[in-house]
Amino acid sequence: MITTKELREKFLNFFVSKGHKIIDGASLIPENDPTVLFTTAGMHPLVPYLLGEKHPAGTRLANYQKCIRTGDINEVGDDTHLTFFEMLGNWSLGDYFKEEAISWSWEFLTSPQWLGIDPGKIAVSVFAGDKDAPRDEESADIWRKLGVPQHKIAYLPKENNWWGPAGQTGPCGPDTEMFYWVGQGNPPQDSNPGNDESNWVEIWNDVFMQYNKTAEGKYEPLKQRNVDTGMGLERTVAVLNDFASVYEVDTIKPIYQRIVELARDKNNQKAIRVITDHLRSAVMIMGDDKGVAPSNLDQGYVVRRLLRTAIRRGREVGIETKFLPIIAEVVIDTLGDVYSELQRNKDRVLAEIATEEEKFSRVLKAGEEKVKVYLRDGQISGDDAFELYSTYGFPLEEIERMGVVIRDKDTFYAKIKEHQEKSRQGAKQKFAGGLADHSEEVKRLHTATHLLHAALRQVLGEHVIQKGSNITKERLRFDFSHPDKMTPEQIRAVEDLVNEQIKKGLPVYFEEMTVEEAKAKGAIGLFTQKYGDKIKVYTIGDKDKPFSREICGGPHVKNTSELGKFRIVKEQASSAGVRRIKAVLE
Ligand code: SER
Repeated sequence: MITTKELREKFLNFFVSKGHKIIDGASLIPENDPTVLFTTAGMHPLVPYLLGEKHPAGTRLANYQKCIRTGDINEVGDDTHLTFFEMLGNWSLGDYFKEEAISWSWEFLTSPQWLGIDPGKIAVSVFAGDKDAPRDEESADIWRKLGVPQHKIAYLPKENNWWGPAGQTGPCGPDTEMFYWVGQGNPPQDSNPGNDESNWVEIWNDVFMQYNKTAEGKYEPLKQRNVDTGMGLERTVAVLNDFASVYEVDTIKPIYQRIVELARDKNNQKAIRVITDHLRSAVMIMGDDKGVAPSNLDQGYVVRRLLRTAIRRGREVGIETKFLPIIAEVVIDTLGDVYSELQRNKDRVLAEIATEEEKFSRVLKAGEEKVKVYLRDGQISGDDAFELYSTYGFPLEEIERMGVVIRDKDTFYAKIKEHQEKSRQGAKQKFAGGLADHSEEVKRLHTATHLLHAALRQVLGEHVIQKGSNITKERLRFDFSHPDKMTPEQIRAVEDLVNEQIKKGLPVYFEEMTVEEAKAKGAIGLFTQKYGDKIKVYTIGDKDKPFSREICGGPHVKNTSELGKFRIVKEQASSAGVRRIKAVLE
């Protein structure tokens, strides 16, 4: 039996023995990247370094990372798909490439000193090649040399064996994936992941990131050749232990079991799995230090959807009590020792989750009343069903659960489709562009963000702390702690202060130092790194009395004179005690 804790430790120890530095995982809410809502892989926070920025911890890195993937949400309930999962990863930033990456993956998986998996139960896939990149015979050769027989190497197209970019643009490349046999007995001679998908479960992916996908959809060679690997923690623990599904894994099972205890219909496995998965994800997102509360916007919308689906599924399995805070506590218990932010933010999470449960139960009640109003001969029209959904948030399934027939369902679906198309268009626009492309516009706004942060602290006080940042080519958006609406005078003072620094033409530069040194030098920013870790600190202005000094991965412009004129276009509330500024450079 191997636990998640043991696998995390083994993985990190192995890569330390190969000269890697362990780095901290990042927040689930990506910093400065408007192209995606959540951190979807360990490589995601490393994008600037894969593109060539220098990483303070060196060129060989490893860690575990919290990830959210909502793309697979419809698969949730099967044996392997989860919307929240942990990913183990190792990286080469322009250091080693295919030979070492593949050999080390093999050693970790099969050596009795590490996982000791029977090599006969492993098969691999490599990229088959297309117009963008050649067939990956190089990786196949390495696998053959390590003893993997030809028939266990599947050559697959881009949709299988290509990874990235994480958003719409950025680093990506061909990958080679490792699969574990979960079928009966031993795998048949000619079975591989290309011809027998259901019996081979992917556990690890080595990506060879040597291309940058541009906004025009072109694949340009990167300055440096990188390796990015990812191993799904829960999935790997499940297959190594011969578990029937990920719901038996130690970080998930207690959640599942607690829901079973509360449910009247204990055999509705699919529904209980969905509740387990969704509440785990929602709590991880809310419990992040940049935690998001349920809302109708961006990440908050996803949280709301996860929670509301869980509540509805809870009704389906006959849970009578308000159960969200009960399950949230179990989630926090399972991972609180690995992610201390869950402990720190526990009270807030429990309070917000209870509020949402309360709110949605009011929505359900009101919706049920409305259904009764629209009801004619035990039926309601598709138009009315859509109205209930779009105006009151009352879902179709709930109408049907009341035993009500929807007369012209096609109308309902057509309207829903139209509705979703509209929001997709909106989302596409919102997520276009981004720091991933390192454009000059974004770099300038990024430097302006540092000036703004420092100026706010001077004008409003030192209680101002960054709560979030999001930059597109057109504008910056900055969230910070401050209890009151800013007065027009304060806004003016902040603008003036920033513009003064721009006029002065201050140098912008970074130094690498330990966390302690950074603190001693008065740097601001999130100190999530461990004691002794080397971090990058950006300074704007004089070395001894700088205008701004902040922990940051970069990149930035070289001098504030490159910025143009700074203007705040909006100041508004973001959430309780947090204000949001939108600003532009013109
Ligand atoms: N980025 C790759 C993945 O998510 C490898 O880490 O699979």
